[in-house]
Amino acid sequence: MTVRPMPLVIAIDGPSGSGKSSVSRAVAQRLDLAYLDTGAMYRALTWWCVQQGLDLEDQPAVARAAKDLQLQMGTDPSSPSVQVGGVAIDQAIRATVISESVSKVATNLGVRDELCDRQRALISESAKSTGGVVAEGRDITTVVAPDAHVRILLIANQESRLARRAKELHGEADHAAVSATHDQIVRRDKDDSTVSQFMEAAPGVTLVDTSDLDFQQSVEAVLELVRAQTGPQA
Ligand code: DC
Repeated sequence: MTVRPMPLVIAIDGPSGSGKSSVSRAVAQRLDLAYLDTGAMYRALTWWCVQQGLDLEDQPAVARAAKDLQLQMGTDPSSPSVQVGGVAIDQAIRATVISESVSKVATNLGVRDELCDRQRALISESAKSTGGVVAEGRDITTVVAPDAHVRILLIANQESRLARRAKELHGEADHAAVSATHDQIVRRDKDDSTVSQFMEAAPGVTLVDTSDLDFQQSVEAVLELVRAQTGPQA
């Protein structure tokens, strides 16, 4: 019998609309692990820069803001939270203005160095205090935690990703909603993929295609992989 490693680190990457945030959070809940949404960290920094009136194209200034950012990530999967300087910004970071501009911040290499360091520290702290963590993003399996016990790339075809995000943002997936969502999926992933590789699985990373799976089936597919790779307790 395989014994579940302690602390257990599960890394999940994927493009927008692959379902990785909701699936990762549900997996963390099922396994009693912490949950780290690294995309929320890039969004939090973007929010802060916008608040401060910083020009997002000014890369050195934005990288400095990353170093100084008073960011607090709550990693309880039943109520994950994001605070900057003590202010809760969970809703604010999901605003369209942030979604539209976050790639400018996420493609700043100085920002990535700083946030990747913070992500490694958070993974290690939360894993120690709760027995493990599910961390999700674009470069967790490859750059932030390449030595994670389970490494998964969650993908879905573009049609499914557009339909899911359209439903999330507009409540339906009709033609108008899908085209309004195009920028947030296709253009953003194109920009983001200039700095991270999340469209193809790197060596040792298992691909899970959720195009034809509903939410529960996607969660089960990930849990099944965790069980297969770490032991039956999962
Ligand atoms: O998953 P999301 O939409 O909340 O991510 C927000 C942005 O951050 C998106 O542009 C991709 C980027 N990101 C990244 O570059 N690396 C990560 N580990 C997580 C997110």
